[in-house]
Amino acid sequence: MTFRAIRADKTDAGQDVKLVEMDESELMEGDVTIRVTHSTVNYKDGLALSGKSLVIRRFPMVLGVDLAGIVESSRRSDFAPGDKVILTGHGLSETHYGGYAEKARVNGDWLVKAPDGLTLAEAMAIGTAGFTAMLALMAIEHQDLTPSSGPALVTGAAGGVGSMAISLLADEGWRVIASTGRRSETAYLKALGADEIIDRATLSAPGKPLGKEQWAAGVDSVGSTTLANVLAQTRYGGAVAACGLAGGMDLPTTVAPFILRGVSLLGIDSVHCPKERRLEAWRRLALDLDRDKLATMTRTIPLAEVFDAGARILKGETRGRLVVTIG
Ligand SMILES: NC(=O)c1ccc[n+]([C@@H]2O[C@H](COP(=O)([O-])OP(=O)(O)OC[C@H]3O[C@@H](n4cnc5c(N)ncnc54)[C@H](OP(=O)(O)O)[C@@H]3O)[C@@H](O)[C@H]2O)c1
Repeated sequence: MTFRAIRADKTDAGQDVKLVEMDESELMEGDVTIRVTHSTVNYKDGLALSGKSLVIRRFPMVLGVDLAGIVESSRRSDFAPGDKVILTGHGLSETHYGGYAEKARVNGDWLVKAPDGLTLAEAMAIGTAGFTAMLALMAIEHQDLTPSSGPALVTGAAGGVGSMAISLLADEGWRVIASTGRRSETAYLKALGADEIIDRATLSAPGKPLGKEQWAAGVDSVGSTTLANVLAQTRYGGAVAACGLAGGMDLPTTVAPFILRGVSLLGIDSVHCPKERRLEAWRRLALDLDRDKLATMTRTIPLAEVFDAGARILKGETRGRLVVTIG
């Protein structure tokens, strides 16, 4: 049986990423085989699709960090043919064949059954980005911060993690400040629940170690100087969840926010997130996420269009979430 996949191969010139036909015998080791129905385009997918990044750690590699689909066969007692399953992270597109393929064979420990009431397309509209935004919200709540603590700032607001974070925070009752480089997306961000829009330029230039206390919580997708400024303007006892590096991997901060204001910097990793927290995040996403807002932030594309979408996400030109139909 053959199936279509987007595969990266190592060449003398670097990496060759293209749509190919593969044989089922080429699938990697695993105890559950899945007919993939949907995947997504995340920032990390853009990096892998570019053929220039270090995301891929073995070749050949099928790309796509997320997948959703239906179990075809299973050697485990906890998954049976016909089960609807979701997989985000766990090294897909890095060390294990990912979701841009009509078939996947994976370790069942990585899988989550799609919660009741959530379609596979919706699960991928959420994808790693939405899952990460929920992990960030849970980490902030774990600090005993609530909407009464003060507003929450979301950077990279019109992106995938940002859009999801705005929607989740607003629906939990937070006053949300959205930082974006795209003023043209004001109406979109307000429809997701943002109360105030600020220009990302106000956070991107080097600032003072401490600034005026503005927000009690933050969800940051940008990193670098932006994250340093977000920390410097976080209220006493507040917390910022660091999710991404769209603006850079460095963090030119000082210890001032931590030792003078008791601010916490919360690290968010979606790839190796332990199963218990993973299940809790998906349970809450299925219960709490406003489906109309999810539809507002989602566009659906066929597999062949992921190359273009990957290039655009790296340039910060995509809005919200992209679902890829596979099977
Ligand atoms: N920790 C984890 O497990 C995890 C999981 C998912 C994603 N991530 C990371 O989180 C980040 C966002 O991922 P995503 O899928 O949401 O990507 P995305 O859809 O491209 O969103 C990123 C947003 O950041 C803003 N941005 C882009 N370039 C920027 C720059 N140079 N300076 C300042 N802002 C910039 C843009 O928002 P505006 O146009 O609104 O300004 C853009 O839409 C990425 O770095 C990704 O690798 C990490």
